[in-house]
Order: sequence, then structure tokens, then C-alpha cells
Amino acid sequence: MFCDSYPITAYEDLGAGVYSLRVKAPQITAAAQPGQFVEIGVPGFSLRRPISLCGIDPEKGEIRLVIADRGAGTHTLSTLREGDSIDLLGPLGTGFALPEPGAHVALVGGGIGTPPLLPLAERYRETCNAILGYRGRDQVILDVDFARFCDTVVCTDDGTYGVKGTVSPALEALLQACRIDIVYACGPAPMLRAVRDLCMQYSVRAQLSLEERMACGVGACVGCAVMTEHGGVRRVRRVCKDGPVFEAADIVF
Ligand SMILES: Cc1cc2nc3c(=O)[nH]c(=O)nc-3n(C[C@H](O)[C@H](O)[C@H](O)COP(=O)(O)OP(=O)(O)OC[C@H]3O[C@@H](n4cnc5c(N)ncnc54)[C@H](O)[C@@H]3O)c2cc1C
Ligand code: FES
Repeated sequence: MFCDSYPITAYEDLGAGVYSLRVKAPQITAAAQPGQFVEIGVPGFSLRRPISLCGIDPEKGEIRLVIADRGAGTHTLSTLREGDSIDLLGPLGTGFALPEPGAHVALVGGGIGTPPLLPLAERYRETCNAILGYRGRDQVILDVDFARFCDTVVCTDDGTYGVKGTVSPALEALLQACRIDIVYACGPAPMLRAVRDLCMQYSVRAQLSLEERMACGVGACVGCAVMTEHGGVRRVRRVCKDGPVFEAADIVF
């Protein structure tokens, strides 16, 4: 785990109040796995903000962070531009289990839950299907980035872009049509529950990335606790350290 101030190499406004930062952080990049996150120090705030790794580029030594301007901390970060520095702690947490290349994987992302799935699209490419859900056209982000790597279906609740409806029918159609080895999902809790239920119905392994509120971010305060159950044994797990990625079948919603 590294903690330092790193230079921002690119800023991009993705629309819908979401922005992208590329950061030159070679040590973090070298150690990072898909599904892990960094904690960002925000000037004027004591608690760091957890943000997933949306891109890991070992050649350039860069990570990419895609951030929704949702509150005071992420709004302060939205003023950063190329050439500014950003205070990062990471990589943190336990990321996605990674089957060997060639495994057929499905990615299911909802809204600002889509960023941590992009490194998986880049890794699995032609053996990967992405299903991305948003409220409407104005909220769509990263669809072009996913489509560069893999077969991508976009769903919107109001039908203003892509397929009308939630991600569930698209996921069910995929599970019926193909042999999928593992499903990875990140997004709002109702979407994660639906993904978990469908995967259990079709006996397909699924891993979910949870975005609980956090405090310390390094396993010390239990401020991010979730309940899991495995083999009939219930355990409190910390999203920041034991997760954010958990086996779907183990999560007690
Ligand atoms: C593992 C993980 C990965 C995440 N990845 C991303 C990402 O890639 N892109 C993105 O836009 N957002 C992501 N989030 C959510 C992001 O951390 C929050 O939106 C952000 O911390 C809100 O901070 P704020 O100061 O703007 O809002 P405020 O509501 O003012 O935050 C106040 C406090 O609550 C915490 N907090 C508020 N909302 C959340 C939340 N949903 N999750 C965790 N802590 C929260 C903040 O860290 C802060 O301590 C992730 C959260 C987790 C746990
Ligand atoms: S946020 Fe402190 S233990 Fe997870």
C-alpha cells in the first residue's frame, strides 16, 4: 500500500456530473488488481474518499479514476486539472477473482458502479459481455470505453438510449444463450440483489463489488461492516479490507 501525492496527467468531463482523472502513480499501478480502490485525501476533509480503479495502465504507470460529483468531497476533487497533484492511498481492498484468460465472463454495471468493471473488459475482451444500466440517456457514461473492448449492451430505465428496461432481462437472455463462467457486478443494491438472484437461479458464480460508506478505509474501524453467510456461518466482514468484492452467494442483503 502506498501513500503519496501524484500528478494528474489528464482531466475529462464525462457529462452527467461525472469526471475522469488519469494519475501518474507507478507504484500503485504496479501493485493494483481490478476491483481494488484508492482512498483520496481531499483538502479540508479529515476522511479520505474511496474511489475504484477504472483503469490500470502498467506501461504508462497510470491509473484512471471516474468520479461522480455527489457531495462536498467529490465536488472539491472536481476542480482538479492536468498538472495538479492528488493525494492517494492504495491500492486497497480485495479485488475480483480472476479466472485465466479465455474464461467467459459477464459484467453488469449500474450507473457510477460501471467504472470498476472496465479493467475486466480490457482483460477478457472477446470472451466478455458487458451489460450497463442507467436511468436515462443523460446518465450514460463509459459505454464507448466498454465497447472498445467487448460486446456491450446499454439499458436505460426510460428507454431514451439503448434497450428499455433494467439490466435483468439482458442478463437473463445472456445466461440462457451462453455458458458464462462468472458474472461480476457493481451498482445500486436492488440491481446487485437481482443479479445475485438470477445467477443463483442459473447456477452461475457471481462476484459483487459493494460501495458501502467508509471511514478509515483500511480495516481499523468496522465502519463499513456487512453481514455474510457461508456454510451456515454468519460473519461480519469489512467492505474496505475483506471486500469491496464478495461472492454474491455469501452476501446477506
Ligand atoms: C470501494 C468503493 C469504491 C467506490 N468507487 C467509486 C467510484 O469509482 N466512483 C464514484 O464516483 N464513487 C465511488 N464510490 C463512492 C464514493 O466514495 C462516494 O460517492 C464519495 O465518498 C462521496 O464523498 P463526498 O464527500 O462527495 O460526499 P459526502 O456525502 O459529503 O461524503 C461524506 C462521507 O461519506 C462517505 N461516503 C458518502 N457516500 C459514500 C459511498 N457511496 N461510499 C462510500 N463512502 C461514502 C465519504 O467518504 C465521506 O466520508 C466508491 C465507494 C466505495 C466504498
Ligand atoms: S472503513 Fe474502517 S474498517 Fe472499513
